[in-house]
Amino acid sequence: MALTFRKLHQHFVGEASPLELRTVRDEETLARIRAGMDAYAVLVFRDQSFSDDEQIAFGERLDGRLHQGTGSRAFTKSRLGNEALSDISNLDASGEIMKADDRRRHYTLGNRLWHTDASFVDPPGRYSMLHARVVPPVSADTEFADMRAAYDALAVDTKVQIEELRAHHSVAYSRHVLGFEFSAEEQEKLKGAIHPLVRTIPRSLRRSLYLASHASRIVDWPVPEGRLLLRDLIEHATRPEFVYRHAWRVGDLVIWDNRATMHRARPFDDAKYRRELRRVTTLDIEQPAFAAVGS
Ligand code: OGA
Ligand code: MN
Repeated sequence: MALTFRKLHQHFVGEASPLELRTVRDEETLARIRAGMDAYAVLVFRDQSFSDDEQIAFGERLDGRLHQGTGSRAFTKSRLGNEALSDISNLDASGEIMKADDRRRHYTLGNRLWHTDASFVDPPGRYSMLHARVVPPVSADTEFADMRAAYDALAVDTKVQIEELRAHHSVAYSRHVLGFEFSAEEQEKLKGAIHPLVRTIPRSLRRSLYLASHASRIVDWPVPEGRLLLRDLIEHATRPEFVYRHAWRVGDLVIWDNRATMHRARPFDDAKYRRELRRVTTLDIEQPAFAAVGS
């Protein structure tokens, strides 16, 4: 049966009809998923049973090369033994629930700020694909905000004002805001990256606000002035009308376009319940092999 999507929010997010992604190899279906990403920016696939290797292989088939760990790699190795697979869990190296003062937990708490993945490196993240393996019996949701709809809703003079601006993104900055400090040696590996504040998504040609907790300043602006603009824009872009809240079920694979959305984890009792998800994120680089598909 042909793959179809049901819209879960007035602006974005499509829930896919049943499909076992680990077996999807044909270009036609992959192209349909990419077209779905262009239209919806976030796709939800239910009941996926990926092994780690299958999740990695699917990520590469869909969108090419993967990020090999990002910020946390400056101070820790992945428990999962493969840096392409991000460990989005509250478990420590021995598989136990992390202690309240575990440094990795403090770092991970940064996911509760609105962000896009890997915007503090160049190339940044394009698609993130997060698979739920263990979910708590209480809500431990992820929220997504549509940065295309948020851009469209800006006042015209704001659009003109921000058109050519660029922001510096730094994970040292976003973590510092929460009181997490990298050592000088770690910071050496985390210089940050500069990206345009307004992006045009290839294929869909939708315009999008490229914002994140990592955005530390506007290039060439006085720092406080740039931070105030960034705060205003994030406040605008995360108004309830632009936000979808995902309640995880075991087996969900959610794919989001980091160029077109922000996301954040919502709090839950992480000292009590295990929550285990795994993510791959692709590099936002030109991939000419895909350019012709679906066009
Ligand atoms: C991520 C992320 C949020 C969550 O995987 O990149 O930010 O709810 N996850 O775990
Ligand atoms: Mn994230």
